[in-house]
Parts: sequence; structure tokens; C-alpha cells
Amino acid sequence: MVLSTQRAAQASREWFEDIGHYVHQHPAQFAFNIVTRSRRVTHDNLRVRDPEFVAATERWFAGDEQAAPPMFQPFRLGSLQLRNRVIVSAMDMYRAADGLPGDFHLVHLGSKALGGAGLVMTEMVCVSPEGRITPGCTGIYTPEQEAAWARVVDFVHAESDAKIGMQLGHSGRKGSTKLMWEGIDEPLPEGGWDVVGPSPIPCSPANAVPRELGTAELADIREEFVGAARAAARAGFDVLELHCAHGYLLSSFVSPLANTRSDRYGGDLDARLRFPLEVFDAVRTAWPAERPMTVRISATDWHEGGIDVEDAVTIARAFAEHGAAGIDVSTGQVVAAERPAYGRSYQTPFADRIRNEVGREVGVAVIAVGAISSWDDVNSILLAGRADLCALGRPHLYDPHWTLHAAAEQGYPGPAAPWPKPFAAGRRRPQTGRTDGPRPRLDLVRKGTSGTRHLRRRPGGGV
Ligand SMILES: Cc1cc2nc3c(=O)[nH]c(=O)nc-3n(C[C@H](O)[C@H](O)[C@H](O)COP(=O)(O)O)c2cc1C
Repeated sequence: MVLSTQRAAQASREWFEDIGHYVHQHPAQFAFNIVTRSRRVTHDNLRVRDPEFVAATERWFAGDEQAAPPMFQPFRLGSLQLRNRVIVSAMDMYRAADGLPGDFHLVHLGSKALGGAGLVMTEMVCVSPEGRITPGCTGIYTPEQEAAWARVVDFVHAESDAKIGMQLGHSGRKGSTKLMWEGIDEPLPEGGWDVVGPSPIPCSPANAVPRELGTAELADIREEFVGAARAAARAGFDVLELHCAHGYLLSSFVSPLANTRSDRYGGDLDARLRFPLEVFDAVRTAWPAERPMTVRISATDWHEGGIDVEDAVTIARAFAEHGAAGIDVSTGQVVAAERPAYGRSYQTPFADRIRNEVGREVGVAVIAVGAISSWDDVNSILLAGRADLCALGRPHLYDPHWTLHAAAEQGYPGPAAPWPKPFAAGRRRPQTGRTDGPRPRLDLVRKGTSGTRHLRRRPGGGV
């Protein structure tokens, strides 16, 4: 209780210290932002305290008299229209053989597309066999893999209004490791491969020392990204995300804790960004101009001497200026000795800072992710202008129909979260027996809002 009060007080104090980042906001949004600054007061409990204030803010947000909840407002990502603001975050399933996605991926991603989110992201799809993290990771470096991905995309497009994006990456010094449930980031005892990186610094004392990449090899890897992007375009993906987070190859170039090179790819942040930006530029040219690209970044290394939020602003601005339509703001997983401050929506302050400093200037969308476990938090983040979109990972593993259920619980019947026709008969929660357009029970809302299920665990499968 004391800790929780201290956390709220700290969030509130930091908000006032950073007030300069918010003065550009419209008065309606600024007012909602200030009232919810400690994150203890949320969209839904504020609606109970002052329904007219929240309704007026929602009308401003929607630009419409009949405002839907903020998460059900459509969003334009570059030139791509998303039906709502919920994204299924990239999640590695470790279920591929030789990089080939199979029925598991079709069922997993297909069911998420039927679950109501506006955008469904694949796991990190690898650009080469050596670029895989584990033997179970998918790739897009063979014609068979491209065809298997096209099958997934075709299903999503045929059976839902969801858009589907591919996350593209190379494992770098975190490759040749075990499946998640056999030991995250632990090196393979046999059958592994040589790992590569910007410098010969392993990601943990237990992992292999990576071979420092020469400039010719960097050019080869850049071309692997280009080939993979072309294949993803042919497979029909709507969005391409470059994985530049979590200590994988591109991220390891950005972090001074992994990159100590003395050539043009090492040194200050501009130099460390050079290779990731070269890859981004080459991929952006190969990827169809009308389809958006996003970039996932680690906005802090959670470690002394590593990337911090000031660097994150620079990194986000650089990718935005090179043509990224969205920045997906994650953190950490770069060094094993990190000290993350986990908690409810714990990465959102980084998204907030980037959105309010860079997003507005260069017009890039900002995606918040990480322990956002309730629809009330999603609505609060969006309405306060802390992010433009919210990505949720584990909540979608718990409930593939997370967005449809969020709509039902809020009594939202509208077009931004349509039930698939074959499922329509099940769109009411059977045990409630209510027929009057359900309003959420506040005790359930509070439980959902606390997100306690997710507080103490490392987010993600290390990808
Ligand atoms: C099983 C699992 C696999 C993951 N794989 C990836 C991945 O392939 N790429 C990535 O960027 N993040 C990956 N993540 C991280 C998620 O995208 C997300 O950032 C993280 O889980 C925090 O969000 P959440 O609290 O909503 O789960 C993974 C997470 C989980 C749980």
C-alpha cells in the first residue's frame, strides 16, 4: 500500500516536472491527462466520478458527437486504416521447423485476427537461418516459407477486417539459444551455430562470444533484410516492423553496452545508429511505398551507461525522419544485468515522452506496450495522449478474443470490433444473463485495472 502510494506520488511529481511536454496538447486532452497523471484515476473510474467530463473529452478525441470508447476509434498508420487502436504484440511461438511456419502459426495468428484487434503482428521472423534465435523460430528466406506466410495472410484478409504485420529481425549475439520453455537466452548445448554482433561481447557470461561483423558481412545482412522484405510484400503483409529492440542484431548496434566498434558503425549514438538506419533505408525502398513500416526500439537498457530515455528520443526521431510511420516502444533485454522497474504499464512513460516530444513534430505514431492488461488502461493511455496505439501480448494469450470481450464489457456494439458472423451468437457473456447493453462491474474493472497478473514477470519470451 505504501509502495503503491509512493509510485503514484512519483508518477504525479514526474508529470509536473515534465509539464513542458504536454503544454501543446488540446485543453480537453491536457485536462484528462492532468487528472489521470498518477495512473490511479483511470478513464473508467473517472467516468463514474464525472461522466460529462469524460464524455466531452471522448467527443473531442473522436471529433464526433456519438463517441465510441477511445480504443475503438479508427487510426491511420501511414496510409493504412486500422479499425481500432489495439495491436496483438509480436510473440515468438517457437513452433517452426527449419524456419517454416505451419498450422500452429495459422491457428495462432488466425484466431487473434478473429479476436477483434485492429492489427495482428507476427513473431520476429528471421532473415536467415543464422539470424534465428532458436531452432523453433520462423524465417522468410525460402520460397516455402514465403508461401506458408501467404497462407496466414490470406486467411486473415479473407476472414477478418484485421490488418497483419510482419516483424523482421536478426538475432545477432542472442542467437543459437534454447526454446523459451527450455531456458530463455540459454545457449544450445549442441546443434547450434556461430553468433555474430557488432563487437566480441557476449550478451551474458553464459552465451557465446559473437564474431565481430566486417563491413562486407554487414552489407550481406542488409541484403538479407531486403530479400525478406520483398518476400513479405509478395506474401501480402500490410505492415512491416523492423525489430531494433531487445538486444538482437540491430539493437545491439545501437547500445553502447554491446557496440564498442571503432569504425564508422561505432562511437557516438549517430554512428551506432548508422547500420540500423542503413538497413531501414534499404528495406523502406524495397517495401511498397504505400504500406507502412514501424520500428520496435528498446527505449532504455535499464543499465548504467546504456541507452536512456534521452537517447530513445533521438533514436525515434532518426527512424521517423527516415520514414517510419510508427515507433513501437519497448525496453531492455539488451544485457543480462539489467534492472528493469516492472509495474503496471511500466514502459508507457517512454512511449509518452517520445509521442509528446517527437510524434507531434514529425508526425510519427507511437505504440505503447508492456503490462497494459486492461481495456481501461488502453482507453486511459489513448485519451491522455500517452500513445496512439496500444500493443498487448500476454493478454491475447490469455484471451484470443480480448478486443471483442473488451467491446462487450463496455457495451460497445459498433463496427470497430465486429464479431465474426459465425461467432455472433456467442457475443454475450452467458453467466451474466444481462440483456440491457452491459456496463462493467466496477469491482471487475478495478481487478482488471491493477494488472497484478503481469507485474512481477519478465515481459515476453525474451524476444
Ligand atoms: C511468448 C512471448 C513471445 C514474445 N516474442 C516476441 C517477439 O517475437 N518479438 C518482440 O518484439 N517481442 C516479443 N515478445 C514481447 C511482447 O511483444 C511484449 O512486448 C511483451 O510481452 C510485453 O507486453 P505484454 O505485457 O502485453 O505481454 C514476446 C512475448 C511473449 C509473452
